[in-house]
Amino acid sequence: MQTGRFVDMIHKKKEGKPLESQEIRDMVSRYAAGKIPDYQMSAMLMAICFQGMNDEELTALTLAMRDSGETADLSGIPGIKVDKHSTGGVGDKTTLIVGPLVAACGVPVAKMSGRGLGFTGGTLDKLESIPGFRIDLTEEEFFRAVRASGISVIGQTGNLAPADKKLYALRDVTGTVESIPLIASSIMSKKLAAGSDKILLDVTTGSGAFIKDLEQSRELARRMTAIGRGAGRETVAMLTSMEEPLGFAVGNNLEVKEAIKTLRGEGPEDLREICLALAGMMLSLGKEGLSYKEGRSLAEETLDSGAAYGKFLDMVEGQGGDLSYIENMDKFQRAACERELTAGEEGYISSMDTEGIGITAGILGAGRETKESVIDHSAGIVMKKKIGDWVRRGDAIAVLYSSGEDKLHRAERCMQRCYTISDRRPEPLKLVVDIIR
Ligand code: URA
Repeated sequence: MQTGRFVDMIHKKKEGKPLESQEIRDMVSRYAAGKIPDYQMSAMLMAICFQGMNDEELTALTLAMRDSGETADLSGIPGIKVDKHSTGGVGDKTTLIVGPLVAACGVPVAKMSGRGLGFTGGTLDKLESIPGFRIDLTEEEFFRAVRASGISVIGQTGNLAPADKKLYALRDVTGTVESIPLIASSIMSKKLAAGSDKILLDVTTGSGAFIKDLEQSRELARRMTAIGRGAGRETVAMLTSMEEPLGFAVGNNLEVKEAIKTLRGEGPEDLREICLALAGMMLSLGKEGLSYKEGRSLAEETLDSGAAYGKFLDMVEGQGGDLSYIENMDKFQRAACERELTAGEEGYISSMDTEGIGITAGILGAGRETKESVIDHSAGIVMKKKIGDWVRRGDAIAVLYSSGEDKLHRAERCMQRCYTISDRRPEPLKLVVDIIR
């Protein structure tokens, strides 16, 4: 039990001295109970941002946040349950493809997903663009859906890691989000509470990721896998490129349509590749004795056979979604206004400000400006060109979709700044940059 004054702990961290595990546990439970004021916790978070945390402190912080609320019990679902978590990206619709693909290979997917955060999109918002789709199944319905079709993707049930929720909200407004130990413990506390047996982390890196620098992303991956190990859960991290949006579509129903095309074998190559890699790794974790390479081959066969698309249909039907939209994608609501963006000069598209593209999608209505904002599921961007493509002045590089001309106007100005065009052809992007076990 911590008996000293909290201000002394702030001093200790500020001076770079490690905190005791018991001090950290006490800090988390007292903050969650409202016994430490936000101004003191803000100072502590800032001290952690500058001084970092060693592995022992990090494990203590993560487990204290996990233990601040309920933990899901998935033992009622037979088989090895493997969770996948992305650290966030733009145009990242991989869960919509990888989930059904892995389930079609016999590994159950009982997944709790999140909503968009900042400039990044969220799986729940995408799924809700399918009319009727319910992300709020009761625990009983969730288990029944996984047992019946091998897959269900829902919003968080129960009160998982409430201390993280409170701390995250404070970090959001105190400039303390971008700290590797704070991100690592925040993500892992929720993953550990969500009850899966094994965890695959998709750690994005590049201009559209929260952590943009490759070495820092690697460090984030290392710290999270260390937490998983410390908690007795096998955890693998794949570092994947977010130097440009994944696929062509950014925005909720636009991304759902692209995911459906990918499941039908008509999707963009980069998206297909990343999905096969992630599914391959999930399968190797979920099936004893299967290597990553064998997992990837199994995923490829299953995707090409149409079985993953069939599983997606099962999932949509099982969660109340209207299948006629999947079968005839023209039924999805189309934005009232659209505008083509053209290249201002000739050359290769050499880089993109992918965070800026995510922000543009938000301006168009695909994201939330405040917690109360209502998402426009038809808003977003369809990229016409990607990094490495050659463009002439006046060529279409993207189409913007929104409900009003004013939003299109603001978004167009923002999007125009997101491209770098040069006369040197850029190196091809490596999609899976590294794997950390
Ligand atoms: N996602 C989280 O859940 N937490 C963070 O700190 C950053 C991204």
